[in-house]
Amino acid sequence: MINSARFANQNDPLRIEAKEICVDYNGTVALYDASLNLGSGCICGLVGMNGAGKSTLFKALMGFVRPSRGTICINGVSVRRAQKDQAVAYVPQNEGVDCSFPVSVWDVVMMGRYGSMNLLRMPRESDRQAVFHALERVELVELQERPISALSGGQRKRAFLARAIAQRASVLLLDEPFAGVDVRTEKLMSDLFLQFKNEGRTILISTHDLSHVRDFCDLVVLINKTVLAYGETSKVFTQENIINTFGGMPPNLLSGPTTTEGYR
Ligand SMILES: Nc1ncnc2c1ncn2[C@@H]1O[C@H](COP(=O)(O)OP(=O)(O)OP(=O)(O)O)[C@@H](O)[C@H]1O
Ligand SMILES: [Mg+2]
Repeated sequence: MINSARFANQNDPLRIEAKEICVDYNGTVALYDASLNLGSGCICGLVGMNGAGKSTLFKALMGFVRPSRGTICINGVSVRRAQKDQAVAYVPQNEGVDCSFPVSVWDVVMMGRYGSMNLLRMPRESDRQAVFHALERVELVELQERPISALSGGQRKRAFLARAIAQRASVLLLDEPFAGVDVRTEKLMSDLFLQFKNEGRTILISTHDLSHVRDFCDLVVLINKTVLAYGETSKVFTQENIINTFGGMPPNLLSGPTTTEGYR
C-alpha cells in the first residue's frame, strides 16, 4: 500500500487511515481487505464500476456501516469520535433525505452547524454567518428560502455541498457530486474542491467521469470490492489499471480520452 505522504503535512496525523477493512451486507461481501491512507491537503479520486463498493467505503468511513474486519481512524481517532468532532462532512450519492420534507435550503445548510450547537439548537450569529458564507460559495444565496424540494437536482447537490462547507470539516467525502450537474456547476464544484485542498482539507471523491481524475485528483484509488491500485494519479491512472478496474472494458468505451497518454 502506498501512503499519500507526499501530500501530507508530516506533523499531522493521517486524515483517513483505513486498514484492511471488510464490509458485508447480510453475508454478501461488498468490500474486502480495503486499505487507504490519506494525509491533509489532497484530493483523491475513487473510481470503480457500479457495485464496486465506492458508496460502501464512504458509509464505512462515516460509520453508517460497520466493517466486519479491519480498522478505520479519522484524524487519528475512531470514526465515532471523528463524527462527534464534526471532522467529516459527507455529500451522499442520493441526498439521503426525503426531499418532499418541508425544509428550506437555509435549514439544510444550518444542519451542518448542529454539531457545534447546544441541545436546543439555537443558531448564534457565527452559525448564521457560516451558513451565509457557505451559500455564497456555492452561489445559492438567492435560493436560500426555497424548500429543498423545489430545487433542481444540480442545485440540490450544491445545497448539500454548502452544508458540508458550513460544517468546516477537515475531511470531505463526496459520493458522485458531479452526477447530473451542468458544466457551470461542475466548474464551480471543481474550483471549490481545489480551494478546499489549498485550505488543507482532505477530499475523497467518487466519480464515473475519468477526466475528473486526470484534471484535479492528486491521488486515485481504483476499486473492485477491494483496492486494486492506489497512489499518485500520474503513476497509477494508467490504461492497464483502468481496464483491470472495469473488468477488461477498454477505456475508449468509457468517457474521456482514448490513449494511455490521456490518462497521465
Ligand atoms: N444496503 C444494502 N444491502 C445489501 N447489499 C447492498 C446494500 N448496499 C449496497 N449493497 C451491495 O453492495 C455492493 C456495493 O455497493 P455500492 O453501493 O457500495 O457500490 P458503488 O460502487 O457505490 O456503485 P455505484 O457506482 O452504482 O454507485 C453492490 O453489490 C450492492 O448491491
Ligand atoms: Mg455508489
